[in-house]
Amino acid sequence: MGKTHLNMKVNGKEVDVLTEPRHLLIHVLREELNITGPHVGCESSHCGACTIDMNGMSVKSCSVFAAQAEGAEITTIEGIGSPDGLHVLQEMFKEHHGLQCGYCTPGMITRAYRLLQENDNPTEEEVRFGMSGNLCRCTGYQNIVKAIMAAADKMNEVKEAAQ
Ligand code: FES
Ligand code: FES
Repeated sequence: MGKTHLNMKVNGKEVDVLTEPRHLLIHVLREELNITGPHVGCESSHCGACTIDMNGMSVKSCSVFAAQAEGAEITTIEGIGSPDGLHVLQEMFKEHHGLQCGYCTPGMITRAYRLLQENDNPTEEEVRFGMSGNLCRCTGYQNIVKAIMAAADKMNEVKEAAQ
């Protein structure tokens, strides 16, 4: 199949990639745009390592064809925080030991980022349910949940202080 132009906005920047429409979005991001935060795990929509934010929803980028992303607005972990300016979720994952090997972490944080926009004061049960599409082989989830709850509290404190 021939290549075609794919136009998207990724982490706030307009991009135009020449790619095959059948390519998976995770491969376009990693191999053609060098955005390697989203990881390849199962490539079958199970693990969540490839989670990105697409048009305001958490999406597993291994289940999206390039052609389906035309015109999309995408945020990856690179657009959520940076080494010099960590997002509060990243700070809380660090503080509460929400990661070990780190393979699942970009997907976890990207999903949690959307979860806290959908519900800024989630119960533990809601966090566990909301994160249930993201698997971690290391942590046993306890500290991931703690980190997300702590991030929600911090974000709410900032919001209250600004009122
Ligand atoms: S690599 Fe996409 S869900 Fe596992
Ligand atoms: S920290 Fe290793 S898979 Fe989650």
